Amino acid sequence: MSLLIKNGEIVTAGGRYFADIYCEDEQITAIGKDLDFDADEVIDATGKFVFPGFIDPHVHIYLPFMGTFSKDDYASASRAALVGGTTTLIEMCCPSRAEEPLEALQLWNSKAEGLSACDYTFHMGVTRFDELAESQLRTIVADYGITSFKVFLAYKGAFGIDDAELYATLKLAKELDVVVTAHCENADLVAQTQAALVAEGKVGPEWHEPSRPVTVEAEGCHHFMTFAEMTGAEVYVVHTSCQPAVEAIVAARGRGVKATIETVIPYLVLDSSYTERPDFEGAKYVMSPPIRAKEHQDFLWKKLADGTIDTVGTDHAPFDFSTQKHMGHPDPNKAVNADFSPRGEAADFTLIPNGVPSVEDRVNLLYTYGVTTGKIDLQTFVATASTNAAKRFGLFPRKGDISVGADADLVIYDPAYTGIISAETHLMNTDYSGFEGMEIKGRPACVTVRGQIAAKEGQFTGTLGRGKLLKR
Ligand code: URP
Ligand code: ZN
Ligand code: ZN
Ligand code: ZN
Repeated sequence: MSLLIKNGEIVTAGGRYFADIYCEDEQITAIGKDLDFDADEVIDATGKFVFPGFIDPHVHIYLPFMGTFSKDDYASASRAALVGGTTTLIEMCCPSRAEEPLEALQLWNSKAEGLSACDYTFHMGVTRFDELAESQLRTIVADYGITSFKVFLAYKGAFGIDDAELYATLKLAKELDVVVTAHCENADLVAQTQAALVAEGKVGPEWHEPSRPVTVEAEGCHHFMTFAEMTGAEVYVVHTSCQPAVEAIVAARGRGVKATIETVIPYLVLDSSYTERPDFEGAKYVMSPPIRAKEHQDFLWKKLADGTIDTVGTDHAPFDFSTQKHMGHPDPNKAVNADFSPRGEAADFTLIPNGVPSVEDRVNLLYTYGVTTGKIDLQTFVATASTNAAKRFGLFPRKGDISVGADADLVIYDPAYTGIISAETHLMNTDYSGFEGMEIKGRPACVTVRGQIAAKEGQFTGTLGRGKLLKR
C-alpha cells in the first residue's frame, strides 16, 4: 500500500512548509515539492495542514476504579481517538496492590491486542513495591519495552503507595533510565478535607474542588519533586491543573530536577463553575485533581505558550452519567450502588467515579481554543499534543514527527471545518460529553496509521486489531 499526499502545508514542532509526502510500507519514504510517484492512493491536501499523528500520553481505557469499570474498550476508544486525530495512545496500566505487575501488564495488553485500531503502549503503574514487584518491573522494562512508570500519591488504600515505596520506585527508575509519571495530590489532606466537608453536609459535586484545593496538589508536586531530587530520577507530573502546582515543579527544575509537566484538555477549556451546575450535572465534571477556577485556566494557557508546560493529554476516564456518576448522588432516591440498583440512602461527591471522557476531542479543542484564538501557535500545538510526548517517552522520531523513516501516522487537518461537540455524535462509549454544545473550528479530514487511512471526515475507516504495542 502506497500513499501520496499532495499540496498540503506540513506543520511540525520545528517548522512549517509546503511539500508532498510519499509513504510506502507503513513509513514516510519521501518528502518534497511536486513528488511524482505512482501511488495506490492520492490525497489532495490543498488548503489543509498536515500534522504528525497526535499522541495522547495519558488515557485510561481498561480501568477498574471506585467500585466500577470505565466504559470504553479498545474498539470504541481507538475509533474515537483516530477520528479526533490521535494515532498513538499511552494508557495507564493500574493494577490493585494485590495484583502482580507482570500479570497486570499482560491483562491490560490483552484488552488492546487484537482490538486497537491505533498503536499503543503503557505507563506501568507501581502500586506496591516489594522484592517480587521489583523483579517483575525489571522484566517489564527489559522485555516489553515499557520505559515509564506511574505512581499515585493520591487514592490511598487503592492505587496509592507510601513514601518508602515511592523512594524505592524512583531509585529503580534512575537505575533503569525509566521516567516516573505521577499523580500528585496529598492523599491524607484529601481524605481529611473530604470527611470535614461531608460532616458539614456539603455533599454535592460542587464540593469536590474544595475537597482537593490547589495547595493540596502543590504539596503533592513539591513532595514528588523532593523524592526526584533525592534520587536523581527523571519525572513527569500528569494532569497539572493550577498555578501553585506548576510553580512547585518549576522551582524544582531550578534545583536541577528533570521534570516534565503535563496538563490535560478539560483544565484548558472548562472551569470549576461546571461542577456547580444544577440537577447533579456537576458530577459530569468531577475528576482529580479538580477542574479549577478560570484564573488557573488562563495561567495554564500562558505556560503552554511559553514552553513551561510540555504536554497536553486527556486523562480520558469515561464513566456514564446516568448510572456510574450517580453512585455519588446526594439524593437517596437517585443514588445507586455499583450495580446501579437503588442505594436506599444518600451518597456524596466522594463516591462519584472520577473522570471526563475526552480522547476524541483533545486535538480539536486545543486547536480551536488555543490556535484559532491566538493563545498558542501551530508549532506549540504540535509540540504539546504530539512531539514532546514522543520525545519524553522514547517514541521519537518514529512517532511525533514528519520525516523520512518515521511511521506514516499523519493528520490532514481541515481548518475550515466548523462543528458542535455532542454525545449524540461522538464515538466514545459514554452517555454524555463534558464538552456538549461547544463549537470546534477545524477537524481532521483524513488520518493515517502507518500508511492506512483510518479516519475520514469524522468517520472511522480503519481496521480494529491493526494497532501494535510499541516497544520503547
Ligand atoms: O479523575 C481522574 N483523574 N480519573 C482517573 C484516575 C486518575 O487519577 O488518573
Ligand atoms: Zn490521576
Ligand atoms: Zn509532602
Ligand atoms: Zn489518569
